[in-house]
Amino acid sequence: MNQAAFHSFLACEDLKDPEKADQQKLFELRLNSNISLIQHLFFELYPQVEHKKDFGKLLRLLPNLFNKRPERLRLLDLSRMAEGNWYQDQRLVGMQLYVDRYNKDLNGLKAKLPYIEDLGVNLIHLMPVTTRPQGQNDGGYAVNSYTKVDPRYGTRADLLRLIKTMHSKQMYVMLDFVVNHTSDEFPWAKKAAAGNKKYQKYYYTYQDRTIPDAFEKSLPEVFPESAPGNFTYNEQMQKWVMTVFNNYQWDLNYRNPEVFMEMLSNLVTLANMGVDIVRFDALAFLWKKLGTISQNLPEAHMVISLFRLCLQVVAPGIVLLAEAIVAPTNIVKYFGQGIFKGNECELAYNATLMALLWNSVATKKTLLLYRNLKNIPSRPQEGAWLNYIRCHDDIGLGFDDRYIYEIGWDASEHRKFLLNYFTQKLEWSPAIGQAFMYNPRTGDGRITGSAASLLGLEMGLKTKNAKLIDQAIDKIVMLHGIILSYGGIPMLYAGDEIGTLNDYSYLNEEDKRDDSRWLNRPVHDWASSAAVHQEGSIPYRVFRQVRHLIALRKEYQVLADHHLPLLHEPNNNHVLAFERTDGNNKGILVLCNFDEHDQALDAGLITSLGYIKNARYSDLITGEKRKLTSGLFSLKPYEIFWLDSL
Ligand code: GLC
Repeated sequence: MNQAAFHSFLACEDLKDPEKADQQKLFELRLNSNISLIQHLFFELYPQVEHKKDFGKLLRLLPNLFNKRPERLRLLDLSRMAEGNWYQDQRLVGMQLYVDRYNKDLNGLKAKLPYIEDLGVNLIHLMPVTTRPQGQNDGGYAVNSYTKVDPRYGTRADLLRLIKTMHSKQMYVMLDFVVNHTSDEFPWAKKAAAGNKKYQKYYYTYQDRTIPDAFEKSLPEVFPESAPGNFTYNEQMQKWVMTVFNNYQWDLNYRNPEVFMEMLSNLVTLANMGVDIVRFDALAFLWKKLGTISQNLPEAHMVISLFRLCLQVVAPGIVLLAEAIVAPTNIVKYFGQGIFKGNECELAYNATLMALLWNSVATKKTLLLYRNLKNIPSRPQEGAWLNYIRCHDDIGLGFDDRYIYEIGWDASEHRKFLLNYFTQKLEWSPAIGQAFMYNPRTGDGRITGSAASLLGLEMGLKTKNAKLIDQAIDKIVMLHGIILSYGGIPMLYAGDEIGTLNDYSYLNEEDKRDDSRWLNRPVHDWASSAAVHQEGSIPYRVFRQVRHLIALRKEYQVLADHHLPLLHEPNNNHVLAFERTDGNNKGILVLCNFDEHDQALDAGLITSLGYIKNARYSDLITGEKRKLTSGLFSLKPYEIFWLDSL
């Protein structure tokens, strides 16, 4: 909703007492505030005369969808709207997990909520829980349904109970909406394969190779090793179908307004289960156009915005997360720019920061991190980044070549170095990871592995090297200290809180063997989690420190995402320094050292800060109070400080 419409909506009398609000009136008010943009976008996307009637269909669909929204959630929508940007609150800390690999199923997860709460996490991203093909299914991202819970995970009632329990504990829920594709077993795909023309138009299907070949001239490959090409021949249908990801994931054709409307219904059904944040999976790919790479196209933004605006009318409390792992300058566009301002996603993955942190781990320097962060357009006021270190996917090295050259390195050599560093090609590197989608011809590739293994814990344990183990633990804590203080929502990856290592079992499983991302999708090790109470154990050391950082973050309001972090460039290439303030005279200075040696900073940086008075400061993490006595401030290897004034 644009600002003016939002304010007039907030001024509405009915909102003062949501319990007594005339829901219908509020729905109409929201519809009236958004309808002109909805109409504009609809006809931009679907200008053909024959689609005129489809707009009427959409207008009839919206009230139907609203009528299905449970009363409890309608009230929640109202309080969320009045509350403003709740997702910017520093008390929000997330964790991402595979339900089946965490603790068997939905009820198993429910049983583990106390452990998650003990860590301080109050937002859980449950990766896909709906039905999927038995064999390969891309970890559930090939969906057989958007609404039917996979029996292996439990029942719909189990999911609803879990969500209710989480809400009663003030925890938030995030679920995926796999918006770009379905599996080849999805009912629409099955009907299409059986010859149904209507459903063939739900996908990009072609009689012969003419158009697929034309597309291939400019379409890159997402999984060049395991799923080369972007089209798959379906014997039953005797047609080619577009499959940009795996050959069993059929791309939905949003050029067909029916697809948009059916997907909107699916989205609202998902939202109506009580989800707080919906993760829009692979949304950069939503529109395909010949002669382009078919990513980040203006029409893709229009489709997303149309979803957003319709939700604004039907379920305005829902927050959208953009999973756009694309070039940094393109990611920020998913927050909404121009006419889409405030009308796309509130959240986006900070894939740039994530990849740059790994770059700094390997180079032990922060040069490239600064160069990029300083040049990337800021997120809008009402948006927030989702900051993370690891997730279930690979680490791409998609930062801008320009900045690599600017600091005097060769871009392609540098990428080779990073791959070598993380995949055991350098004798001195402590990292143990694997390459993902490596192309020997170009030398391009991505990286997989768990945070702990990439940071040297596995190597330390293997070689019984206590120093490496200590350093790895310090690095795990430092990286979490960064994502917990940088702003936005920190999203931990389940298992990282206990230093989980790579899981090689995927190599023995036919359905997983070709996808090295499974290296970092382990079954949660509950024996290690039990060891968080065993003083001195690795899980104890990691868990305690991460938990401490989480608790601290929640306490300090300056860490809420109301102001962008201020980067400071100290004259030391190994150090990252940034400040979080409330815009007045309260603040926290974060300092960390990516090097394996002690490093020193000019203390002038610290004394110049308005809120550190008389050179007296305290480190919030250790609780140590100190006064700067020399012109230098020193940092031990992989040390992180959160400095506040005394
Ligand atoms: C997203 C998911 C990834 C999946 C892809 C295709 O990027 O994070 O795991 O392979 O979408 O659905």
